[in-house]
Amino acid sequence: MTTATAVAVHVPLLDLKAQYATIRAEIEPVVKEVIESQYFIGGPKIAELEVETAKYCRTKHAIGCANGSDAIVLALQALGIKAGDAVLCPTFTFFATAGSVHRLGATPVFVDCDPATLNICPESTRAAFHCHKNIKAIVPVHLFGQACDLDAILAIAQEQGVPVVEDAAQAIGTEDAQGKRVGSRGTIGTLSYFPSKNLGGFGDGGMITTNDDALATRMMRLRNHGMEPKYYHDEIGMNSRLDALQAAVLLVKMRHIDAWSAGRQRNAAYYDSQFANAGALDSGTPLSTGGLALRFPKAAPRGARHIYNQYTIRVPAEIRDAVRQDLADRKIGTEIYYPVPLHLQKCFADLNYAKGMFPHAERAALEAIALPIYPDLVPAQLAHVAASVIESIRTRTASAS
Ligand SMILES: Cc1ncc(COP(=O)(O)O)c(C=O)c1O
Repeated sequence: MTTATAVAVHVPLLDLKAQYATIRAEIEPVVKEVIESQYFIGGPKIAELEVETAKYCRTKHAIGCANGSDAIVLALQALGIKAGDAVLCPTFTFFATAGSVHRLGATPVFVDCDPATLNICPESTRAAFHCHKNIKAIVPVHLFGQACDLDAILAIAQEQGVPVVEDAAQAIGTEDAQGKRVGSRGTIGTLSYFPSKNLGGFGDGGMITTNDDALATRMMRLRNHGMEPKYYHDEIGMNSRLDALQAAVLLVKMRHIDAWSAGRQRNAAYYDSQFANAGALDSGTPLSTGGLALRFPKAAPRGARHIYNQYTIRVPAEIRDAVRQDLADRKIGTEIYYPVPLHLQKCFADLNYAKGMFPHAERAALEAIALPIYPDLVPAQLAHVAASVIESIRTRTASAS
C-alpha cells in the first residue's frame, strides 16, 4: 500500500501504472478474448477501432497501421511523394515527422515555430516556398496536443497547390479554433498510439485519417505490402499492420479518452493559475520581461480544444538544468521536448542548415521543460510540482542575478 504522503512526494513524468489500475477490469477480458480467438492480425477488433476512430476524428475513413511514423510514410507515399521531392515540416517537433519524409527518399524542408505556441509558423512556411521550388506537401504538427494555425497552413497549401498531412500524433481529439477535430481538415491526418500519448496502446500503433476514398483505398493497400488482391502487387508497400491485441486495448481506452483529456486540462488550469499567482505570464510574452521567470503554455484560442499531451513551461536557458535538477531532487520527473531542433540534428547536416536560421525553435530548445500532466495526478502531487517549480525558479534567478 502506498500512503498519501508517499504518493505526494514522488511525481513521475508519466505514471501508466496508475492509469492501468483504473481500467484493469475492463482490459483483462478483452485481451483474453483476443488470445482465445488466436486472431492476431486484422479481424473484427481492427475494423471496429477504425470505425470508432473515424467517428471520433470526424473523418470518413480511419486506417490502422503499425505506428505513427509509418502513418506519415504511408500518407506521403499515397500522395505520390518520392525520391527527389521536398516536403515542408516544422523543425521543432519529434524526429519522426522529418524522419518519415526521409524514409521515402524525399528531403525535409524545415521551418521555424511560433514563439508563443511552438507550433509551425505560417510566415516561415510561406517564406520557404520562395526559397524551395519543389515542395510537394506540407506536414504541420499539432504539437503537445494544441492545434497549429491550420487555417493559415491550409490557405498556403491551397495557394501552392500542395496537400497537407496533419501530424496529429500528439493530438487525438484536439480541436482547432473552428472547433474542428485535427486530422479532419488536411488531406490526411496521422495518429500515434505510443503509450505516452493521451490514447496509448500496450505497445506501438498508429492510425491514418482521411475523407478521400481513393487515398483511403491506396493506404489500406500500402500498409499491407501494396497487395490487392491477395498476392498481387501493382506497387510496393510495407508491412505496417496494427495488431488485434492493440486494437482491443485501444477500444477499451477510447471509452475514457475524453475524461482523461479533461483531467489533463484541469491539471493544466491548476498549474496556470498557480504560476500566474506567483507572477508568471503565458508564453505569448518573452521571458525577458518582468515577474517570475517562467512562461506557462499559451491557452488555446476560444472555441479550440487543447488536450495537453504535454505541459511545457519555459524558463531562462541559464537556469534550466538547475531547475530540472531541483525538481529531480524532489522526485519530480521532467523532460525536454525537444533539446535539438531537427535542422541542427547531425543526420541532417548535409541539408546545410546553420545555427541561427530558426531562432524561435532554437530558443525553445534551450528553455522548454515538460512537467507531469497525466490525468491520474492527485491534488497533493500537483501542489508539490507547482510549489517546487516556483521555489526553484525564485531561488535560481535570485542566485543568478
Ligand atoms: C509529432 C510526432 N510525430 C510522429 C510520431 C511518431 O509516432 P510513433 O512513435 O508511433 O512512430 C510521434 C511520436 O512520438 C510524434 O510525437
